[in-house]
Amino acid sequence: MTQQIKSIADYHKAYQDSVTDPESFWAKQAESFTWKQKWDRVLEWNFEEPRVKWFEGGKLNITENCIDRHLADKADQVAILWEPNDPNQPNRSLTYQQLHDEVCKTANALKAHGVEKGDRVCFYMPMVPELAIGVLACARIGAVHSVVFAGFSASALADRIKDAACKMVICSDYNSRGPKFIPVKKVVDDALAMGCDSVETVLVHRNSNEPLDWNPAIDRWWHEEVDHQAAVCPAATMDAEDMLFILYTSGSTGKPKGVVHTCGGYMVFAEYSFRNVFQYETGDIYWCTADIGWITGHSYIVYGPLLAGATTLMFEGVPTYPDASRFWQVCQKHGVAQFYTAPTAIRALMAFGDQFVDSFDLDTLKVIGSVGEPINLEAWNWYNEKVGRKRVPIIDTWWQTETGGMMITPLPGITDTKPTYASYPLPGVQLELVDNEGRVIEGNDVEGLLCITFPWPSMLRTTYGDHERCRQTYFSTFPGKYFTGDGARRDEEGRYRIIGRVDDVINVSGHRMGTAEVENAINQHENVVESAVVGYPHDIKGQGIYAYVITQHPVADQDAFIREIKAVVTQVIGPIAKPDVIQVVSGLPKTRSGKIMRRILRKVASGDSSNLGDTSTLLNPEIVDELLKGAKP
Ligand code: WTA
Repeated sequence: MTQQIKSIADYHKAYQDSVTDPESFWAKQAESFTWKQKWDRVLEWNFEEPRVKWFEGGKLNITENCIDRHLADKADQVAILWEPNDPNQPNRSLTYQQLHDEVCKTANALKAHGVEKGDRVCFYMPMVPELAIGVLACARIGAVHSVVFAGFSASALADRIKDAACKMVICSDYNSRGPKFIPVKKVVDDALAMGCDSVETVLVHRNSNEPLDWNPAIDRWWHEEVDHQAAVCPAATMDAEDMLFILYTSGSTGKPKGVVHTCGGYMVFAEYSFRNVFQYETGDIYWCTADIGWITGHSYIVYGPLLAGATTLMFEGVPTYPDASRFWQVCQKHGVAQFYTAPTAIRALMAFGDQFVDSFDLDTLKVIGSVGEPINLEAWNWYNEKVGRKRVPIIDTWWQTETGGMMITPLPGITDTKPTYASYPLPGVQLELVDNEGRVIEGNDVEGLLCITFPWPSMLRTTYGDHERCRQTYFSTFPGKYFTGDGARRDEEGRYRIIGRVDDVINVSGHRMGTAEVENAINQHENVVESAVVGYPHDIKGQGIYAYVITQHPVADQDAFIREIKAVVTQVIGPIAKPDVIQVVSGLPKTRSGKIMRRILRKVASGDSSNLGDTSTLLNPEIVDELLKGAKP
């Protein structure tokens, strides 16, 4: 077990130790795991290239740490507890022994299909246990998993398969999500039709009894390939710095990039952060409502909890099905102790009314968490009163796909909580606020751009196939520092509050999106000449998507045009990227150098026409009036 922080004194000491002597601090945490061979060196780094290596020379397999090492005392404890979309269907559960056997069988099936160490395997699946099993099966044999959220379109999926040259795609036939029944394999078929030449096999998990189009050349049923395999599979020996997974995420420019995480450091930090931030105790039922298609699901549904020997609940459905009390029904039914969700879900449920939560017994809750976007005061208060019953501490956890694990968060029952504040950095996390010129902002009660100045074990190592892009994106804005892209405030007592992205990334219902990505999709409509997308405050989603569009020909039927734009975006990216508001304009405010002045677009989109600032440097100042007149509420 890694170190247990149990008091504020423990926290201060751990933080101090992690800064004074990071190598000893993390070596001590790492020693609690099963290594096949100990590391030669704890840390080697520079943020210029960047090059970061943790536990170099160490050899391990993360699945031995997630599963095998628990078999001595937890073989019969439930590892994964699965709650289906339909509350009338039975739960499924896998004990650590059963998980071991299923992971080994699946790993053997992957091997039988020629998947080898280092090969990439893409997942496009709903939230069924087979997704977690499949991911772990990859890790078992050293294959690299790339999970793509099953809400992305065929074209977005194809981009990701091609970028990583995946050898295999693992999917389900269909997906039951709320009242919807969604064809999943059909999307994979469509993606493969876009030329994913690297794919040799599509392994299909049967999730329904519906008929399915089948390509006998490459399609294989999961049950036919997996069920007869041996339940033993030796765990591949991995270097600490071997790739564990790729996860695509959006940035301010270009296509989504594949964030790369490696085995050793990620393992150590995922367990350490899970254990301490949730204060997990044996026997607790832990539930994170995220999807495994996002980093939160990787670190805090699969790896963190299993590394800690926890029981992790996996939910197939949505918060509002069959009605808006589903989360609390599930908490009550399973006696959930730690509950971790996103502000957008809280706001949505809040809007349905208190009657959906008030009648439930939530006495087993010990910690309630929030992640993915800033939590506004109203939502924080509702969460605190209605779910936490003013008894359960809220942990507002700030982190990113790139950080691999939680960076800033209260420790429940240990550090105080302050509404809307993610509060304090975890041990090992060295923060700095800087101004636009990179000057360090000292002291308290200040605001600035959030940077991390020292490596932490679970940080990204590169962006897949393009290291220069990694350097450019994260390490070049403020040389020598990792720049998060977020603005933050530090209060009088040193707590951090995350204000939001300062780059062209928007956060819609906790889904991270690049405005350029959405613009590229909109521009594929034949009548669009140019577009500009910004975020605007949205009551439920946190941010909504506002698109300004210049057309080639006048638009006769506005409604039809808007439907078409939404359809194009759905097709290119997926429904999560559909603009909420589309305004047809004759021009965009541009500087003399041709740069779009997004500041003005954001103001107009948020319905704020005051203080538009200096528009005299615009090439076309007259456009501002048109934007304001045509602005949609
Ligand atoms: C935002 C999700 C405020 C932030 C784990 C970050 C947050 C981006 C919080 C990363 C929080 C995440 N408070 N903002 N507690 N957590 N964010 O990569 O802007 O999907 O940069 O990782 O979400 O999103 P990602």
